[in-house]
Amino acid sequence: MNNTPLDQSGVWRYRELFPFLGDEKFAVTLREGNTPLLDAPVAARYGGLDKLTLKHQGFNPTGSFKDNGMTCGASQARRLGLKRVACVSTGNTSASMAAYAAAGGLQPVIFIPHGNISYGKLAQALEYGAKTFQVEANFDQILKLVRTLAEKLGIYLLNSINPFRIEGQKSIIIEMMDQRDWRAPDWIVVPGGNLGNVSAFGKALRELHTHGFINRIPRIAVIQAAGAAPFEEFFRRQGKGEFVPVEHPETLATAIKIGDPVSWPKAWQAITMSNGVVEKASEQEIADAKAQIGLSGIGCEPASAATLAGIRKLTAAGVMDKNADVVAVLTGNLLKDSEYIYRYHTNKLEASGGQLLQSTFANSPVVVPNDEDHIAKLLA
Ligand code: F0G
Repeated sequence: MNNTPLDQSGVWRYRELFPFLGDEKFAVTLREGNTPLLDAPVAARYGGLDKLTLKHQGFNPTGSFKDNGMTCGASQARRLGLKRVACVSTGNTSASMAAYAAAGGLQPVIFIPHGNISYGKLAQALEYGAKTFQVEANFDQILKLVRTLAEKLGIYLLNSINPFRIEGQKSIIIEMMDQRDWRAPDWIVVPGGNLGNVSAFGKALRELHTHGFINRIPRIAVIQAAGAAPFEEFFRRQGKGEFVPVEHPETLATAIKIGDPVSWPKAWQAITMSNGVVEKASEQEIADAKAQIGLSGIGCEPASAATLAGIRKLTAAGVMDKNADVVAVLTGNLLKDSEYIYRYHTNKLEASGGQLLQSTFANSPVVVPNDEDHIAKLLA
């Protein structure tokens, strides 16, 4: 209810649950968080559920869940007196880091896989003034490079291996439980890429339970894109043996095009602790699920739609009950990747191998002459 910037933030409002800042003067906030829980009956039906609630992180200042963590990461950089911050990103982390660095008087340096992030996300980084390197390598390869480079040059690394970002991302779950009057759902569903988010969710749930805010721990379902699903494969082996990275990850959901997720051990803890599951969804399943989220009047970017595609499979397999209380976390805004959407609705969406996907729910625009009668006929 307080109008001070930190209490207006949907992250810092809960700062007693991540008490690292010390002096509040270090905080950089763009009033992140405060994202809605939305009822989505159309998506629920498609997913085989009676009811589905979407926690839409795309309502954040830079349009993705990364802002919840980045406000903490950037604040910690200022607290340490560091000047330059860096990250490797499939697009959203870099957009978020660039914004928070600019707002906090830090210099952002970002590394992205050349040609493999959406223009919307690249545009954000450029507009917020980040020094931007488009590297001829994939996300996993660039992360290895930047981890050594950052250390050598004394740049603060703000990837999701940064524990302060994970602390901030706990607020997604804390705020969700607050909005539900601290009633835990049966399931929380989230897409998985580098697996930082699910790690944060696991930590938040454990702490909320320990402190008595919630009386049970919901089951977590992580959904990966089928072409970049090493965690799903590990889950199918019940965590037995080595974790095997995917060397050449492929998916049009570029946000989660990651084959060697660094946070898999923490994510595995979250899955075992919550009696969770890991599922994967094909390119076709993600594309169609995304259109259904759009038809709910909500919309999201491709990676986020993996949630609904996964839910549909989990209900069909009887793992998730039809009448379960399910919250899916939509991680990014619809406008993040408009090219994907345009291609889908105009029957031009091709998977990485060049295979044309079916535009099951296509809604193509109609080109017409400037002629009233002609248009009236089409609408009759
Ligand atoms: N959804 C979106 C929209 C994302 O941008 C990401 C990750 C994920 C899901 C997966 O989250 O990595 O915590 O498992 N994007 C990162 C980036 C990798 O660089 O923006 P995760």
